[in-house]
Amino acid sequence: MSNSAVLKNGLTLALIAAVCSGLVAVTYALTRDKIEDNRKAYLEQKLKPALSGVFFEGDVTESVVTLAAPHGLPGNDDAMIYRVYASGEPVAALFIVTARNGYSGPIRLLLGVDMNGTVTGLRILEHRETPGLGDKIDEDKSDWVQQFPGRSLGDPAIDGWQIRNDGGEFDQLTGATVTPRAVINAVRDTLIYFAENKEQVFAMQEDKAQ
Ligand SMILES: Cc1cc2nc3c(=O)[nH]c(=O)nc-3n(C[C@H](O)[C@H](O)[C@H](O)COP(=O)(O)O)c2cc1C
Repeated sequence: MSNSAVLKNGLTLALIAAVCSGLVAVTYALTRDKIEDNRKAYLEQKLKPALSGVFFEGDVTESVVTLAAPHGLPGNDDAMIYRVYASGEPVAALFIVTARNGYSGPIRLLLGVDMNGTVTGLRILEHRETPGLGDKIDEDKSDWVQQFPGRSLGDPAIDGWQIRNDGGEFDQLTGATVTPRAVINAVRDTLIYFAENKEQVFAMQEDKAQ
């Protein structure tokens, strides 16, 4: 092949590559906002069930803080706190924390707490517990998580934050005591953190927009 033919082929390839990159960039620009809107809508849908009975304004996803471990909340993973407001005043906080000692590993959970320290909802976001045993913590599998809304550090008193088998006030799961112990401990410790750090929770600098 002559030098000029090589040059021509090279230029043609470079042009094709440039056009393709341009197309990718334009597609990305056109879909970015839509993807972000969808991501937010999905997250809102996931978070809202943990805010039962709370009147709030704006998007739940608006004011989030990510805390790297060690952060004083349960778990060695990042913890997240969504601050929830009405008329500019804090009305609740949503915590995403990790219960470390599940039967099959960490359990990621979402806990809503109002300003009185009362649980407004509990959802299990991720777990690897055994189907038919520990997986009943999942609200699709049983109503086990429904015993938490309305509870607070005073209700029951601190000794009551255990399964009935251990002398506490919460139901265990048939054939599975490890899983519920892990979740109850994480809920209790999150409530303790909120009681001790309420002002800081709402004063923390929120994450920068991505
Ligand atoms: C294959 C297998 C899977 C299990 N999965 C779970 C589980 O997901 N969650 C759990 O709490 N216990 C699970 N268990 C049972 C625990 O070992 C059970 O909580 C324990 O035997 C009873 O604990 P206790 O002595 O506190 O009553 C599993 C046991 C086996 C053999």
